[in-house]
Order: sequence, then C-alpha cells, then structure tokens
Amino acid sequence: MKEPVPRTSEAPEADEMETAYDHVQQLEWSFANLPVLHAAAECGLLGLIATEDRVTATQAADQLGLHPAATVKILRALASMGILRGQEDTFEMRGGYRPLFDPGSAIHHANGQRHIFELSQMWARELPGFLETGAWTKTPRDPESMARFVGSMRALSYGMTGRLHQALDLTQSRHLVDFGGGLGTYSIELCLRTPTLRATVIDVEAVAPLTTQEIDRHGLSDRVEALAGDYHQAPLPEDMDVALFANVMHQERRDGVARLIDRAAAALRPGGRVVVVDFTLEESRAEPSLGAFFAINMRLFGDTYTPGDFRDWMTAAGLTDVTRTDLGPNKLMIVGHKP
Ligand SMILES: C[S@@+](CC[C@H](N)C(=O)[O-])C[C@H]1O[C@@H](n2cnc3c(N)ncnc32)[C@H](O)[C@@H]1O
Repeated sequence: MKEPVPRTSEAPEADEMETAYDHVQQLEWSFANLPVLHAAAECGLLGLIATEDRVTATQAADQLGLHPAATVKILRALASMGILRGQEDTFEMRGGYRPLFDPGSAIHHANGQRHIFELSQMWARELPGFLETGAWTKTPRDPESMARFVGSMRALSYGMTGRLHQALDLTQSRHLVDFGGGLGTYSIELCLRTPTLRATVIDVEAVAPLTTQEIDRHGLSDRVEALAGDYHQAPLPEDMDVALFANVMHQERRDGVARLIDRAAAALRPGGRVVVVDFTLEESRAEPSLGAFFAINMRLFGDTYTPGDFRDWMTAAGLTDVTRTDLGPNKLMIVGHKP
C-alpha cells in the first residue's frame, strides 16, 4: 500500500445548506448498495468469496467468467460496504457474513435478497401512481412466487430467531401458536432451543404444505404442526399459552390488528402471553426510517404501528404488564400478559 498523502488542514466547516447537500447526496447514492449486492450474488461472486479464505479479483473473475476490471470495482464496493475486507485487489469476507452468502449454508440469504431487489424495482414503478391514486398494481402470486416469498421470509426472519429466544423465556410455556408463521422459522427454532415447547403454525392453504416440509426437515413433526387456514378464524388449541404474531401485524389494518389481539387474548390460558414482533414506528411516527418505509410497502391494506398502539390494543383486550424489548435496530417485541 502507498504512503498516505499528508493532509493540509482540517476540512472546511460546512454551513447548514452544505450539510443538507451532503446528506441528500448520501441518501441518493444509497441506491447503489442493492444493485451491487444483487449483481455480486447473482453472478456467484459473493458465494465464491464466502467459501474461500481469500481471493484476488483476477482469480474470482477467471473462475466465474467475469471481466477482471469490472470485478475489482464491484469487490472494492463490497469492501466499502463493510462486507469484505480488502487490500488492493485481494479480498476476504468478514466472518459473520459467510453463512449469509455461502450457497451451502442453511441460512443462505439469496431468496431474501432477490425479494428485496424485486421490491426496489416495484417501488420505482408503482410509487408515482400510488401517490396519485392510492392504488398499486397487484401482482397475483402463483405457487412458485408464493414459495419464493415464504422462502425469502425464512431468510429474513432467521437472523432474528436467536435474539427472540434470548428475549422470550419459554421454559415454562407449553404451546405456542405462530399466527401467519410462514415456513415456521420462529416455531422451529424456538422449539429446537426449548425441548418442552410445542407449536402450531397457522398459515394460508398455499403455504401450510411447505411449512409441513420444513417441520419434517427439522425432525420436529412430533412437536410442531402446520395448520392451513385464516388466522382470524382457525381453531385455536385449548392449551395455547403463547400467541406469536411475528411480522404479521403490519399486513393488517388497525381493526384487523385489534381483532387478532382480542381473539388471541380471549383464547390464551391464564398466565399466557401475546407476543408481537414487527417493524414499528416510535410514537412521533417519524422514525425509524425502516418503519416508515414498511408502511409504504404495505400500501393501503396494512401499516406500521407504534408500541403505544399495541399497548392500547392489548390493554383493551384485557392484557396487562405490556412491555417493549428492542430486538435490533429495526425490530421490536411487545408482550402483553393475560392475568
Ligand atoms: C410476512 S410473512 C411472516 C412469516 C413469519 N411469521 C415470519 O416472521 O417469518 C406473513 C405471513 O402471514 C401469512 N398470512 C397472511 N394473511 C393470513 C391469514 N389471513 N391467515 C393466515 N396466514 C396469513 C402469509 O401467508 C405469510 O406467510
């Protein structure tokens, strides 16, 4: 590496307009993260680096049939994004990222990332019309895209399972019902970590058979079952003592959330808990940005809500001791207790 060029002085102080300009430029260029990640994943570059100790740009380009000069630029961008460590044109992946990008790993993130990339294209297409009319072209899901969607949910949710397990003591719980549980990622991981727990995953007809396959794959068919149906109506087990709504409430309007919480609270055993895990907004409803963005993503059929909203719905349903736990920069857990 070359010697650094000496600095002459501190950077000039920026006035308010200049600071605003820097901020806007940073926001605008944040668009580049997603296409770089997407291209690097789809051509196999991220997968290759995830499985090698370290590679040079030339080796990677040779192995994958890519253009060497273009490859080094993408690798440097990935290093600047914090995913790789790079020295000149030799790169290695930072440890925590390897399981996400290793194609052989159980938590390979490819589906999740593809889903987000498709969302970005859809947003660019649909937002102007949405603003004008509130409408958003609905793309009906065929079975294949449904499988891709729930697969992407699995990839996106998996990273949260360890934190949820730490935050939620289930050692005294018997039966968790996972409303809109998708492939059962939370139920499966929580049951693997809590040998005394059983779970029922409720999801729509198109998803439940895929959930059953996941449960079987993890050897949990004696403790976890998938139930096909609408979570507003499906029968609930009598011994339910945890009602989990993970990434579900944002797809409901306010009256839908209230109905789900009422229904769960009424069916819980005394001492049971309603647990909501979701993107939320703080009470100002102006932060964090992922909560605000997610509200757009839910168009007009869903929204993001605040911890105070959930406390009000839970209290109205007769739950007490409502608490909030931050599960990461963008996810909260709200728990209400049935006396
Ligand atoms: C965003 S995904 C969340 C999946 C899972 N809870 C997770 O966090 O990984 C929402 C899930 O709710 C399911 N869902 C939507 N409406 C439903 C309904 N009325 N009854 C049952 N499931 C529903 C969808 O099929 C989807 O699997």
